[in-house]
Amino acid sequence: MAKLRVGLVGIGGMGGCHFFNYDQVEGAEIVAVCDVRTEMAKEKVKGRGIKVYKSLSGMLNNAELDMIDICTPSYLHKDMAIKLLKKGYHVLCEKPMTLNTKDAKKLLAVAKESDKKFMVAHVVRFMAPYIYLKSVIESGELGKLIRLDMKRISGIPAWSWEDWMRDEARSGGVATDLSIHDIDFVQSVLGMPDKITSYTTGIKNNNDYVVSNLQYGDVLVTCEGTWYNAPIGFKATYLAVFQDGYVELSDKLYKNGKEVVIDQPEAQEADLGINVGNDNGYLTEIQYFVDCVNNNKAIEYVTPESSAKSIELVDLIKKKATRL
Ligand SMILES: NC(=O)c1ccc[n+]([C@@H]2O[C@H](COP(=O)([O-])OP(=O)(O)OC[C@H]3O[C@@H](n4cnc5c(N)ncnc54)[C@H](O)[C@@H]3O)[C@@H](O)[C@H]2O)c1
Repeated sequence: MAKLRVGLVGIGGMGGCHFFNYDQVEGAEIVAVCDVRTEMAKEKVKGRGIKVYKSLSGMLNNAELDMIDICTPSYLHKDMAIKLLKKGYHVLCEKPMTLNTKDAKKLLAVAKESDKKFMVAHVVRFMAPYIYLKSVIESGELGKLIRLDMKRISGIPAWSWEDWMRDEARSGGVATDLSIHDIDFVQSVLGMPDKITSYTTGIKNNNDYVVSNLQYGDVLVTCEGTWYNAPIGFKATYLAVFQDGYVELSDKLYKNGKEVVIDQPEAQEADLGINVGNDNGYLTEIQYFVDCVNNNKAIEYVTPESSAKSIELVDLIKKKATRL
């Protein structure tokens, strides 16, 4: 079978991560890249015979493509994804799906109407320690979940083009950009909470954090996401306590204090200069999407409906938050 011809839009931090992962993806290859920073893009793709375009329309007009991988700043996702689906491309789009619920509903409607595949790249759902946690919750092997505490702690994201990430209007701030990883995971496993209490700062003295308490019956789930104006290395951790034990992701993954070792794809070696998690779910997520396209299988693991629900939950968390 011919490989899917992929066009990558945006080859900054996350686009670079996707780009190098395609080397290991079966059934697809990147044949064109587009980025407003063409010199930087040419440097990244050097020696591979891949054509670089300055604009998305330039790439679409000149390259034969089946699938587009969107890794542009988040405020561009909605319009790009809608345009690409309407033009008949399969679309893999970085998280967040959109910056707000209204836009997520618009994109969802287009995705539902389209006969092309669409998936939001919620990488945490593809990361081994989180797949493991989901399986322990769902199998009941440690009994009922009592408490879940998830953290995503980072210094300020200084790498982004034009500093768009620290502009709440373009990234949605730390809740929509970073904490969404954990919020989406929780939503995908437990659904929408019964009650929410939350705190945010908004970008203040260059710090931004969100702490949300999500109540599911008698279970409290906390998601904390931070961009601190301090030289703190990126850490994604969780502690899940059950009736009969606990699972913890800290430096490693543990069940009841014993390390859990899971086979997983090796992370690519390039220094990406951005926050990437402690395993390579990126390859797994891209491969999943490519396999669904190539085998014409429904995208059931991360549906557009579920990604839109996560935007709704993030918006509720932000709306209900006490702003400090
Ligand atoms: N899944 C993850 O773990 C993860 C981690 C970081 C970022 N992200 C997401 O990935 C996306 C990109 O983030 P990033 O960290 O790579 O940001 P970035 O600023 O490093 O990269 C964005 C790139 O898009 C380019 N660009 C801007 N406007 C463009 C346009 N109109 N057409 C083509 N290219 C354009 C920029 O030049 C830049 O190279 C965001 O949505 C972000 O939320 C996901």
